[in-house]
Amino acid sequence: MNILQRIRLSVFPDKQEANQQKHGKRKNFRSFLLHFRPRSVPERTLKLSLTWGLGGMAAVLLFLLFGSGLMLKFAYEPSPGKAYGSIVYLINQVPFGKLLRNIHRWSANGLIFVVFLHYLRVFYTSAYAAPRQFNWIIGLVLFSAVLLSNFTGYLLPWDQLAYWAITISTSMLDYIPAVGTGLKEWILGGSEPGPKTLINFYAIHTAILPILLLFFLPFHFWRIRKANGLIIPRSPAEDPSIKGEMIDSMPHLIMREVALAVVVLAVILLTAMFFNAPLDDIANPGLSPNPTKAPWYFMGIQEMLMHFHPVFALLVIPGLLLFGLLSIPYISYETNTTGIWFCSNKGRKMVLIAVIFATLATVAAVLFDEFVVVANQTGPANMLSNGLLPFSVVLAVCIGFYVLIKRVFNATNNEAVQALFTLLITSFVVLTVIGVWFRGTGMQLMWGA
Ligand code: HEM
Repeated sequence: MNILQRIRLSVFPDKQEANQQKHGKRKNFRSFLLHFRPRSVPERTLKLSLTWGLGGMAAVLLFLLFGSGLMLKFAYEPSPGKAYGSIVYLINQVPFGKLLRNIHRWSANGLIFVVFLHYLRVFYTSAYAAPRQFNWIIGLVLFSAVLLSNFTGYLLPWDQLAYWAITISTSMLDYIPAVGTGLKEWILGGSEPGPKTLINFYAIHTAILPILLLFFLPFHFWRIRKANGLIIPRSPAEDPSIKGEMIDSMPHLIMREVALAVVVLAVILLTAMFFNAPLDDIANPGLSPNPTKAPWYFMGIQEMLMHFHPVFALLVIPGLLLFGLLSIPYISYETNTTGIWFCSNKGRKMVLIAVIFATLATVAAVLFDEFVVVANQTGPANMLSNGLLPFSVVLAVCIGFYVLIKRVFNATNNEAVQALFTLLITSFVVLTVIGVWFRGTGMQLMWGA
């Protein structure tokens, strides 16, 4: 036996070797794949309208980010004197360097978007209910790691955009009483972004968060296997115990996954070929651009800061939301709606109403605050006028909405909680859109670019 054969035997032991001779190499490949994927899956879970392939897309993007990020490390130098130059060098001198950077940037932005959609699909199909509660929590950890990876990566080019976006995002922490400034200085390694910030962010971005993701991602997949696969999609009239026919993963599931990966890669490649990742002038701590905005995924919070006292915008509201998100799977619901989109037909209508109401109410509240409250404000904004008061109004609206929609639709807890969360999520999305597209010089509201 030559050395190659011996190595092959060590990878595919005796039994499989014999198998291989009998049935050919394809069989071996299959058996290898099936260690990662279930041997068979319920046919119903293959419906595109259950997952929309979103979890798979997120996984593909994540691996693309690991691959492209690893290659970027060969060119990037994490010090304020060299970082910007290394990016310019990468773009202009390194073969395919610009393409590589574009792929990394667009995959990272795409990942936030895709994970958010995946989170929505899990939420609206009640896939967080037992036995998947803990996987929902793991999902939230993954989501946070994805956001933090984007945030820490944003600083690395050390251009004006990066420098001031990180400055504005971290300076929000200053407003948190007692611990805020200390926390900010701990994150930045000083009072403003500098060499320590860059090296901290670089280490977190290229080591800590990838390790965290590489640990929690298999955990996420393992929990899916432990829950006997994905939820079974069903119509409101169908019995929850139905499972439908089982079908071989190879080729039915695996070929779909491969096709999805190819589509995602093609979309990212085409985007990266035609759209360049932004790169502004080199960071200048003495010259802040106007307006100075946080990265787009934090603009909802920056927009909230324009209307609420920082303690409410940064602590109370996000804290309550996080608590709500973590507790969703553990609230005891009176009916099992797992697998039914929006819980029921009634639930679907309630969600639609919540989206319309939240969009109109958020836009109206922002305009009212900008043109009536702030315009007529005499003294400086304080914890009462700018904090407790607007917060109580928002809370009253949420409670009123919950009670009213439950009563009008004679809804179950599931349906009413779902409508309430839709209200909050939609408001946050609307605030993000306003912050990103409708705030101009001096963070004034504006119409059009
Ligand atoms: C990096 C981020 C993430 C990746 C790569 C990922 C990947 C996946 C994949 C591949 C699946 C199976 C197929 C599918 O549903 O599309 C899945 C299912 C699931 N994910 Fe995620 N996910 C991520 C984030 C999240 C988040 C943010 C949540 C919710 C907070 C979540 C909760 C779940 C749950 C509960 C399931 C099981 C759904 C079911 O049984 O139908 N995941 N995830």
